[in-house]
Amino acid sequence: EKGGYEHFMLKEIFEQPKSIADCMRGRLNASTGHLVLGGIREYANKLEGAERIIMIACGTSWHAALVAEYIFEELCRIPVEVEYASEFRYRNPVINEGDVVVAISQSGETADTLAAMELAKSKGAIIFGVCNVVGSSIARVSHEGAYTHAGPEIGVASTKAFTAQLTVLTMIALRVAHRKGSITERKYHELLVELEQIPSKVEESLKLNDKVVEISDIFKEARNFLYLGRGYNFPVALEGALKLKEISYIHAEGYPAAEMKHGPIALIDEEMPVVFIATRDSSYDKIVSNIQEVKARKGRVIAIVTKGDVLIPKMADFVIEVPAAHEALMPMVAVIPLQLLSYHIAVMRGCNVDQPRNLAKSVTVE
Ligand code: F6R
Repeated sequence: EKGGYEHFMLKEIFEQPKSIADCMRGRLNASTGHLVLGGIREYANKLEGAERIIMIACGTSWHAALVAEYIFEELCRIPVEVEYASEFRYRNPVINEGDVVVAISQSGETADTLAAMELAKSKGAIIFGVCNVVGSSIARVSHEGAYTHAGPEIGVASTKAFTAQLTVLTMIALRVAHRKGSITERKYHELLVELEQIPSKVEESLKLNDKVVEISDIFKEARNFLYLGRGYNFPVALEGALKLKEISYIHAEGYPAAEMKHGPIALIDEEMPVVFIATRDSSYDKIVSNIQEVKARKGRVIAIVTKGDVLIPKMADFVIEVPAAHEALMPMVAVIPLQLLSYHIAVMRGCNVDQPRNLAKSVTVE
């Protein structure tokens, strides 16, 4: 059932062109401008009229929420708060009329997420669920929602669920923005086309596998890693770090690149690998400066860049070139080499990647 792959995690990483396409199937057609999520009907106007959106999740799903925060604020002009379910549920949060909650979960069974939703519901919030598992508890507690349709995710480390969550959340944001008129018709169509192209760009990114194997071999003995990104790629840095620590047991931290100078820069020396997610986008010039700051302290830079970048390859020790994509959609492309990096390093270290120690696929206890 691993389809010829050595581990479920690798199979699931390689399934992503298909799982992302499956997630859009019947929902999005860029050539006709069609974008419909069948599960969001009766309460669609609540979402469009929301004064604030609160996103609740844990772990990788929380990272998807952080990317979605940037997307919703940019496209829909609705303020978004992203909450760890475990914090939200215990702090007497302020929930007003006009607030809408979006709960994100692969398993649909995460205890903290479920409890946070129940709390929000008891205070009168309308809740949209973004789940992978059909009929799960979180799907049932939601008023409405959209499934990610990524197929069963068996590897404990979440991979294809993450990219499918981003696909669904982007579709929801585009639909809301279009109906509200907060983006132009032209931008709407442009983004539909871009989104439709993501599966083929992910396919192209998967061809980087051999290159990632080489880099993994060089860094497999590292004791620490830093992951840095800005803008839409900041949550990708967090996700890259989480993937590495959970399956390879190497200590890794993700940061917004500009926060480095407020502390983590003290960690940088010739022993420290620093993974930059430095694709061509509106924060490109800023991240180039951050790479220079790391190189000035002899850190070893692995940079994920947009294909054709000429500047960063002159500064970084290793570059991984991903295809160009709209910056809002780049997380789905840029995360691929990071998933592969964590996978290969873990395998080289002899770790059980599908069932890492101390972790369970669904966290049904708080
Ligand atoms: C990371 C991972 C966990 C989950 C988290 C939330 O690879 O698997 O961090 O993302 O436990 O799980 P769901 O999405 O099922 O609510």
